[in-house]
Amino acid sequence: MNLKIGIVGLGIMGRGMAANFLKNGFPVYVWNRTPKVAEQLVAQGAILLAIPKDVASRADVIFEVTANDESSRAVWTSPDGILAGANPMKILISSATLSVRWIDELIALCAQKKFKFCDIPLTGGRVGAETGALTMLCGGDPTVIKGLQPVFDAIAKKVFYFGQAGRGMRYKLILNFMQALHIVGFGAAMKMAKAHDMDLEKVAEALVDRPGGVITQIARNRYFKDTDPITFSIEWIVKDLTYAKQYAGDLDIPLLDDVLEIYRTALSHGKGQKDWASVNRLEEKYLLQSLHESEGRDCRTSKRRPQ
Ligand SMILES: NC(=O)c1ccc[n+]([C@@H]2O[C@H](COP(=O)([O-])OP(=O)(O)OC[C@H]3O[C@@H](n4cnc5c(N)ncnc54)[C@H](OP(=O)(O)O)[C@@H]3O)[C@@H](O)[C@H]2O)c1
Repeated sequence: MNLKIGIVGLGIMGRGMAANFLKNGFPVYVWNRTPKVAEQLVAQGAILLAIPKDVASRADVIFEVTANDESSRAVWTSPDGILAGANPMKILISSATLSVRWIDELIALCAQKKFKFCDIPLTGGRVGAETGALTMLCGGDPTVIKGLQPVFDAIAKKVFYFGQAGRGMRYKLILNFMQALHIVGFGAAMKMAKAHDMDLEKVAEALVDRPGGVITQIARNRYFKDTDPITFSIEWIVKDLTYAKQYAGDLDIPLLDDVLEIYRTALSHGKGQKDWASVNRLEEKYLLQSLHESEGRDCRTSKRRPQ
């Protein structure tokens, strides 16, 4: 009998994961703040529960895939939350992208109760979640992670292990910083091409060949037109880059400051629900203006550009 899977949070990622667990014959228990979102999954066989605590008490392996630190804290620690329904037999996983501060606090809470906890953030976006081709970025007890392989097989193509609990999340923040930089870098390269009357379609195709890779392809696809549905929102990449900035602490990483500022500006212009790669379609004028205005702001260190 397959392990019983719980999913708390049915956004872009949680919905795709739940659908693939169902396809692979796992019993699936779900909860979402907005229950209507679960209708299609329920029609496919998922069992919708009223509170996260019930998901934890009914399932063997529980994935939390909500938005940010605030939502994650609420679904883990409220009286109706996951911790209230868990016991040391369950495997508890956070697959959201969260700050190091909060994930370490959650790890400590689980350790006090002798609960098995792993941080397993994801990469692969909407398509990866929908097609069962995610990459799992694991931190936690290696024996527990190894035992999860049959579970991973239903939703993922690759598994990376980074060490003790908390290491998966740390890697995820480093990864999203680099991915965001790559998307914004694609936009900057295209700006040069445009200014010099190059054939933009040809330049974009050549960039997909080299440097190439998934992120260049995503950047190219969104450069010429917006996509609906989105794969990952500008709102959440601002969140991830903000957590990466906290994690970097006193380190001087001006590229991180720049990319965060570009995404923050897009967010402040009401573009939070656009795809993160659509940032290159936004008015170049206001992005540039924002970078000039931000010179000297606290978030940009003065080491690189002395005032
Ligand atoms: N999309 C990607 O490409 C991708 C890839 C890797 C990792 N991630 C990470 O995975 C997580 C989910 O991303 P997503 O793209 O699936 O986001 P999403 O589509 O915006 O879904 C967000 C989920 O969080 C829930 N939520 C938001 N605020 C809440 C609150 N206060 N209390 C309880 N639930 C709340 C939402 O519930 P409602 O339906 O009620 O709003 C929804 O289920 C994020 O941490 C994101 O950074 C995303």
